[in-house]
Amino acid sequence: MIQSKLPSVGTTIFTTMSQLAAQTGAINLSQGFPDFDGPEALREAVARHVMAGHNQYAPMTGLPALREQVAAKVAALYGRVVSAEHEVTITPGATEALFCAIQALVRTGDEVIVFDPSYDSYAPAVELAGGRCIHLQLKRPDFSIDWQALAEAIGPRTRLIVLNTPHNPSGALIARADLDQLAGLIRGRDIYLLSDEVYEHLVFDGREHASVLRHEELYQRALVVSSFGKTYHVTGWKTGYVIAPPALSAELRKVHQYVSFCGVTPLQWALADFMAAYPQHIAELPDFYQAKRDLFCDLLAASRFTFTRSPGTYFQVADYSAIRPDLNDVQMAEWLAREHGVATIPVSVFYQEAPADLRLVRFCFAKREETLRQAAQRLCAI
Ligand SMILES: Cc1ncc(COP(=O)(O)O)c(C=O)c1O
Repeated sequence: MIQSKLPSVGTTIFTTMSQLAAQTGAINLSQGFPDFDGPEALREAVARHVMAGHNQYAPMTGLPALREQVAAKVAALYGRVVSAEHEVTITPGATEALFCAIQALVRTGDEVIVFDPSYDSYAPAVELAGGRCIHLQLKRPDFSIDWQALAEAIGPRTRLIVLNTPHNPSGALIARADLDQLAGLIRGRDIYLLSDEVYEHLVFDGREHASVLRHEELYQRALVVSSFGKTYHVTGWKTGYVIAPPALSAELRKVHQYVSFCGVTPLQWALADFMAAYPQHIAELPDFYQAKRDLFCDLLAASRFTFTRSPGTYFQVADYSAIRPDLNDVQMAEWLAREHGVATIPVSVFYQEAPADLRLVRFCFAKREETLRQAAQRLCAI
């Protein structure tokens, strides 16, 4: 028998629900990816670069042209001037970036604070690094940080805090004042911050993304992660980046160098071209996704689900207590897929230990209008 290094990890719910959707023909609002394609000019650029022979290894830290584009974006959006050479690293997906950051920082016996519900890749990465995850629950219903609990959880073993804003699965946003509060709590301690900001451009109702990149004090001890896959509707490209001060970037790169060495070359060329030629894409994203959120929520208002509109990401959580309070959320997601033809994700899977009264499922609204209309019709008929 193999003694597993990750004994509690099995097939993820994302795979299970997508398989169930495929088996049952349910509309798949479970896993977080668009059912429409990325911009044509971007896809054409990949084809062009593949044919032009840009098919060998990229530099370990990423193509300079793409790092320059990222640095320019960060300066324009967040007012932070970063060195494309020393502070920007291109990675094969945000997931690889998160993994490498955790391996680079977390030592045996270190504690890492994560806020549940949390994205599923953090905890296994901490475990593989020999660390221990301290799971703190965000306060419901708005999924805000419990500052008292955080203050009590921080101790001599705390090495890293993982933030995620805009937040998957809830869509909640951290505010500038939250970052100030966090800075106060970790000031003078040997604690780093991993800020997962892959949905940085999906912020609605005119609100601002309070990036750690805007926060001078926190940035000095932070690694900030984003994903081109989310921003350009190409999740299958698995291309992301990390921004961190030079000393932290150097440590991250030591791991990244031996996990993957570099990201995919023609994709990096294409993204660099597209970012230079279509800077408006990013500016248009909030309205693009807000329209989808509003369409879905307007339609869902006629159902028995209850919800508050998601302030960010492309996810909407909804409470089903009025429909099947007898089912836990995993049972509910199965029932919705099998009996009503809509695949969702139960929110409890994002918890180490979910509250017993949790009755929430997550819908992904990164879908074409007709998909959202069809799904809403089925959900309203329940
Ligand atoms: C919060 C969060 N972080 C990271 C990722 C991974 O991004 P990528 O596909 O670029 O690896 C996702 C994808 O769903 C996510 O939701």
